[in-house]
Formats: sequence, structure tokens, C-alpha cells
Amino acid sequence: MNSSSTFVVLLLHLLAPLILSASPFPYTTTKRSIYASGVTPSGLGESKRFEGSSDLVHLRYHMGPVLSSPIKLYLIWYGQWSPSQKSTIRDFLFSISDSSSPSPSVSEWWSTVTLYVDQTGANVTRSLSIAGESFDSSLSRGSTLTRLSIQQVISDSIRSGLPADHRNGVYLVFTSAGVDVQDFCRAVCGFHYFTFPSMVGHTLPYAWIGYSGRRCPDVCAYPFAVPAYMGHATAAMRPPNGDAGVDGMVSVIAHELAELSTNPLVNAWYAGEDPTSPTEIGDLCEGVYGSGGGGGYTGEVATDGAGRRFNVNGRSGRKFLIQWVWSPVLRACAGPNAIA
Ligand SMILES: *[C@@H]1O[C@H](CO)[C@@H](O)[C@H](O)[C@H]1NC(C)=O
Repeated sequence: MNSSSTFVVLLLHLLAPLILSASPFPYTTTKRSIYASGVTPSGLGESKRFEGSSDLVHLRYHMGPVLSSPIKLYLIWYGQWSPSQKSTIRDFLFSISDSSSPSPSVSEWWSTVTLYVDQTGANVTRSLSIAGESFDSSLSRGSTLTRLSIQQVISDSIRSGLPADHRNGVYLVFTSAGVDVQDFCRAVCGFHYFTFPSMVGHTLPYAWIGYSGRRCPDVCAYPFAVPAYMGHATAAMRPPNGDAGVDGMVSVIAHELAELSTNPLVNAWYAGEDPTSPTEIGDLCEGVYGSGGGGGYTGEVATDGAGRRFNVNGRSGRKFLIQWVWSPVLRACAGPNAIA
């Protein structure tokens, strides 16, 4: 174990509850430390790779709802964002329900998420749309946010016009290059949870994802940047949309949306006994983007004519590299670019 992984282990113990987070690279080390802390079933070997193997993963259903109604996304852009950054992220979100994108597509990737059902027999919805956006370019809550102040940012956006949509709403807070968030880059790259009525007036599922391009691309935008200690052993991949920070965010957004939809109130689908640090369907497959992935290897992914790497197609000719998610049917990590 290297010093970076020791650091992650310490953080996992000291900063608990580290709820519902997309973890920094190295993913396998983070997983290992979660197992070491006893959250997941014992007997899992340190170098366990989830892709294709499942007997020891006990993802369980805990009786709560999944997001089965059409999801309306409300985007909250905190800080400064360029038009191209916003359009890459919007195109990814629009692609989730766009079944006309060529295979392997973002919407085929989402079809693994729709395999999850709740006790009423309702599947996670296939329908996600962007229903509203809000801009806080002047950083009204400052450039250093805590987990709770993310909820204040949501509350501010609702006060300035975004609907409090407690039927279908999911709120996504994106923080820009100059913004630090509690544990960002050190223990998390993004997280999801739900708002508290005392802060926002309602219980609304939300996720936060930070732009890591300037601050820690090697941690939160891997494999588009590689940690220095890995030296020349692994080359960084060219990002499909030309911005390592945004392309890295897209995979974290995918991770959080998959988890939020299958575990919106943290009482539906997760592994492990401790609901304050559940292992969810994205956590189980962090770092896996294609067949053979795991243990620091992304798996088989495609390369376009300009050397950019991707594993799924989206609308308008967009390409993205997003991590796989756990399939309850295959009992393994799954993605549409799997090699049969
Ligand atoms: C709903 O979930 C069940 C159980 O996983 C699955 O068999 C079915 O194909 C799913 N339906 C959709 C539309 O994904």
C-alpha cells in the first residue's frame, strides 16, 4: 500500500460518514480500504476485480423507493463555466434518454440502471430531461463549501426561481474550477444525498460534482490525467471532448445519477451493513470502463481518428468515457461496450 492509499484509508476512518461518494483514484485502493473497514462482506481478496465475478458482492434491496417517475433534472452551475463546458455536460444528460444514438450508446448504458426495481415492482425510469437551470457565477456562498452549504446553494437557487419539484426533481450542483468542497480531491469527486426540509423546505434528491481539471485531474479525472507516482507506466488518455476536467466530471455525473436513481433516500439498493457508508451500484464498478477493466486498468475502450478515447456514443455525434455500473441480472459490472 502506498502513502496515497494509506491516506485514503485514514480519511475513510476519520471522516465517516463518507456517504455516497464517487471516490478518487486509485479506485481499487479505495475499495480495498472500504473492505478493510468491514463495511462489505468478509472474505473479499485485496485484488478482487468485480468485472465478471460476483459471488461475494451482496448488493441488497432495503425496501425503499427507486426513482421510477420521469426524472426532471435541475442544473445549478456554481462559479464560471464556458459555453463548451456546459454544452458537453448538457449533451451527456440529454443522451441518457436518446435511444437514437449509435450503439454502444449512453442510453444503452442507462438500461442497466433501469433493471433496478422497488417493492412496488416499479423500475428506475428511462426518462431523464433537463427541466431548469440556475447560475450562481458570483459564488454567493463563497469559494469553499461544506457538504451542508451545497444544500444552501440549492436553497438559494430555489429562492431565485428554480422550482422545488418534489414529484420529479433531481438537483445537480456543479462547482467550477476555483471552488473547493469539503473532502473534494482528497476523499470524494462527487456525492449524492437528499436535502433536509429545515434547509431547503423539502426532501429533494441531489448530487454534487466538482470540476477537477485544475485542482486534481489525476485524482478525479483519471484516466485523462495520471498520478505522478504512476510515472510512465500508464499514459493519460485523450479526453473525448477535449477537456479532462469536464470529461472526468461526466463519468462522475454518470456514477452519481445511477446511484441516486437506485438509492435516492439511501434505503433502497446498496451493499454493506452500514447505511452511513453504503457501497452502491457505481461504487462497485469504479475504474471499470470496458471488458477486462479493474485493478487500475480501464478495460477495452475505443479510440477515434484523433486518438480520443471513449466507450459510448451520445446525441449529436458526441462521445463519452463513462464507468460501468453493477447489473443485478448479470451480478457483475456491465456496459454496452462489453466484448462478447
Ligand atoms: C425492470 O426490471 C426487471 C428486473 O430486473 C427486468 O427484468 C426488466 O427488464 C426491467 N424493465 C426495464 C424496462 O428495464
